[in-house]
Amino acid sequence: QPKQLLRTIIEEHEQLQTLANRHVISSGQFSRDVMLQLFRLAAKFECNPERFNSPLAGKLLISAFYEPSTRTRLSFESAWHRLGGDIMSIADRSTTGIAKGESYADVAEMFNNYGDCVVLRDSDPEAVYQMARSLRIPIINAGNGIMEHPTQALADVYTILKWRPELLTDDAKPIRIGVVGVPKRMRTVRSLLTLLSQFSDIIEELVVISDRPAKTAFADGQLEALEEAGLNVRLSNELDGELPELDVVYINAIAWVKNAREVMGNAFRLDDQSPLKEGAIILHPLARGPELDVSLDTTPHNWYFAQARGAVFVRKALLTCMTQRTERVMDVV
Ligand code: CP
Repeated sequence: QPKQLLRTIIEEHEQLQTLANRHVISSGQFSRDVMLQLFRLAAKFECNPERFNSPLAGKLLISAFYEPSTRTRLSFESAWHRLGGDIMSIADRSTTGIAKGESYADVAEMFNNYGDCVVLRDSDPEAVYQMARSLRIPIINAGNGIMEHPTQALADVYTILKWRPELLTDDAKPIRIGVVGVPKRMRTVRSLLTLLSQFSDIIEELVVISDRPAKTAFADGQLEALEEAGLNVRLSNELDGELPELDVVYINAIAWVKNAREVMGNAFRLDDQSPLKEGAIILHPLARGPELDVSLDTTPHNWYFAQARGAVFVRKALLTCMTQRTERVMDVV
């Protein structure tokens, strides 16, 4: 029985049980051990999609996306559907009571009656926190303004470890990662750096490539927190000069700020003529702009499509763990 098998896997992995009935709001909630167990479960979903068919049968997801989304919304909905559950989708907050002045708390109170889990993307960074306080079903932050996008970051780290699983062995050679973006303004970058800070043993150097000085590239305390976690971080404004030494190049150039697309760092571009190291992989949360040329799509550097594909399995694993019924009382955020 797929349901029983999954329950057994989760029961055997103590760290996965800590996700049951918990909100997922920040990547800071994920310990390395939880991540690794989650990735193992994601890999089981990826290798054996038929084996775990309907663990969420009879459960309802409330999918509330008040900002544009292709991947996050559809991959969460695909994951939930493929796990056997049903979905209620809201794509426009002006069609809810919020347009009439209803509070987030009251909307959340209603969500408790209608579904088993909420996935929310909202440009108001506070919305997810305010809803979480009134929810008795778990909520996942699918992007809150410029602040966080934890499940994207989980998919990013899953991709890196799938590319080089041997990184987790004792004698692995550490890698050099370049992150092109603005950690202060980009939620995907912020959440990724937080997760990477738990893998300082496998990262020789993390180069943040930005056309901004440290003061405006990083939020207050962000750089210091990464260094305190043991990461060897350096800021650079020179992409092509760094590329020959980078094993992983993560690039992003847009953020969605107050209902508008904000382009940052568009001086940096990658194409099939870029001086990439042999064997290096490129990651991008997508949607892309001119910073990632389509000429790279047919090269072995393209791991960004695999990254988007893998996100479905990570989300399947996460949703399954979060919606296990336990006696646990939900954390109040
Ligand atoms: N990576 C990501 O968040 O993509 P979407 O905006 O399409 O969801």
